[in-house]
Order: sequence, then C-alpha cells, then structure tokens
Amino acid sequence: MKSKIISNREVTRGYFQMEFEFPAAASPGQFIMLKVAEHNDPLLRRPMSIAGLDGGVMSVIFKVVGRGTALLAEKQAGEHIDAIGPFGSVFAPPQADTVLLVGGGIGIAPLLFWAKRNPARTAAAFIGGATESDILCAEEFSEVHIATENGSRGRKGLVTAPLVEHAAYKNKTGYILACGPTGMLKAVDALCAQHGMKGELSLEERMGCGFGVCLGCVCDTTAGRKRMCVEGPVFKTGEVLWRT
Ligand SMILES: Cc1cc2nc3c(=O)[nH]c(=O)nc-3n(C[C@H](O)[C@H](O)[C@H](O)COP(=O)(O)OP(=O)(O)OC[C@H]3O[C@@H](n4cnc5c(N)ncnc54)[C@H](O)[C@@H]3O)c2cc1C
Ligand code: FES
Repeated sequence: MKSKIISNREVTRGYFQMEFEFPAAASPGQFIMLKVAEHNDPLLRRPMSIAGLDGGVMSVIFKVVGRGTALLAEKQAGEHIDAIGPFGSVFAPPQADTVLLVGGGIGIAPLLFWAKRNPARTAAAFIGGATESDILCAEEFSEVHIATENGSRGRKGLVTAPLVEHAAYKNKTGYILACGPTGMLKAVDALCAQHGMKGELSLEERMGCGFGVCLGCVCDTTAGRKRMCVEGPVFKTGEVLWRT
C-alpha cells in the first residue's frame, strides 16, 4: 500500500519519527514492513514496530543503523512510502493486571502504542539506553523511570534496576511488557522466572519476508520452533529458549 508521508523528523540524534497515512487497523505489538527505496535495491523490506495509529495516521520510530534506515531518514513529507501489514502477534496482558512497560532504546516504540491505547492500565514505564540520546518518548508517559549506562540521564546503570524496586513489581501486582535488545529481554525474562512475575517480550530480530514464508526468522521456544514474524514478535516470558 502506497501511503502519503505526513512528517519525518529527527527526534534525538540518529532517531527519526515518521508519520504516514494508514487506513487499516492494527494493534500494539504488531509491526509493518516498509519498502525503503523506489526500486528493488535494497530488495528486502525493513520491519518496524507500530508506535502509534490514530485517525488513519501511523507512526514509526526508527534508528539509523544501515543503508535501509538511512534511506528512510531521507524521506520527506508529501512523498509516498510502500507499507504492508500489520503483521505479527499482539500484546495481550490479562484484563485484571496493570502493566509495567520496559523499553530499551528503540524498543520503546511498540510500548508507546500500548500505552496510548491503554492509559488506565499502564502503571509505569521504564526506559533504558546507553546514553541520553538513546532515551526516546519519555515525556509521553505519566510515570517514567529512566536509566542510562553512562549516567547522562536518569540513574546510572541498567533499566532493570528501577524495575525491580517498583512497588508493583515487588508486590507482584504488575504484568510486564518489554521490548529492546536481546540482552535486556533475557535479563527481564530471568527476573520474571526468579520472582514469579508474568509478562510478554517483543523480539526485534532480523527478518526476511515478514509474513511467514522465508523461515529466516525462526527461533526456539518451549513449544517448538516458531517464526518470529507470525507466531511472534511477542512471546510470553519463559517461552523463548535463548541461544547463549
Ligand atoms: C519485529 C521488528 C520490529 C522492529 N521495530 C523497529 C523499530 O520500531 N525501530 C527500529 O529502529 N528498528 C526496528 N527494528 C529493527 C529494524 O528492522 C532494523 O534496524 C532495520 O531493518 C535495519 O535496516 P538497515 O538497512 O538500516 O540496516 P542493515 O544494513 O540491514 O543492518 C545494519 C546494522 O543493523 C543491524 N541490524 C539489522 N537489522 C536488525 C534488527 N532487526 N535488530 C537488530 N539489529 C539489526 C545489523 O546487524 C547491522 O549491524 C525491528 C525489527 C523487527 C524484526
Ligand atoms: S521473516 Fe520470513 S518467515 Fe519470518
């Protein structure tokens, strides 16, 4: 689907937010596949979590890491982008639970979509990054705890430190939704196992087709091999068998 770009701006150094028209429905946790160039080079579309969808306008937040995302960063308002989707599984916390959001770097994007759709159920957001410029969207949450590895914003260290100190974690009344780098997701998964907490993790591994055909995104889980683009990217805590 060719969608008109409404805006594309740098939000912090190296991170962009793009808004474009998207008339279909989508739910938090899902992603879309963006074609980054007019022609077929690069050939593969790039997966991006949906950071918001309101009034037919979708937003994604992306970090420039390689050629595809550099091409996305050059796109201007008024141009068109080819977006297909939504794909993948959704965040589905039990109705009774309030939710603690744990985002590392760009992993905050799908959590922001969850919070926008479920403000009353969002207890707090925990945002971590290497430095201040890796902290995104903090102002969008009513209760937010920030940690940076170099201490340039919030407390110094990993985002799991403020998480385990939070009352809703200590009292086991919070359900965790997390998205971010593999190391952070593994740490959250291990904490949940250790403290009897429940939650869901959104994995952002590399993908080929994005809709179940190429088998380029398969991961091992307690229920067998799963495609991250169809059965994932959201899995329950305790479900993913991490490779070392
Ligand atoms: C379900 C899903 C949702 C995603 N959501 C977002 C999002 O909201 N915002 C965002 O910025 N990125 C997101 N990503 C990652 C994003 O798709 C990649 O950063 C992008 O495809 C890189 O394309 P590129 O051409 O710029 O980089 P490439 O030239 O393909 O790679 C450049 C560098 O980035 C690394 N890289 C490439 N793909 C990934 C990846 N999937 N995860 C980690 N490192 C990667 C490579 O190892 C390499 O070092 C998501 C990925 C998935 C699977
Ligand atoms: S990316 Fe092709 S099967 Fe998942």
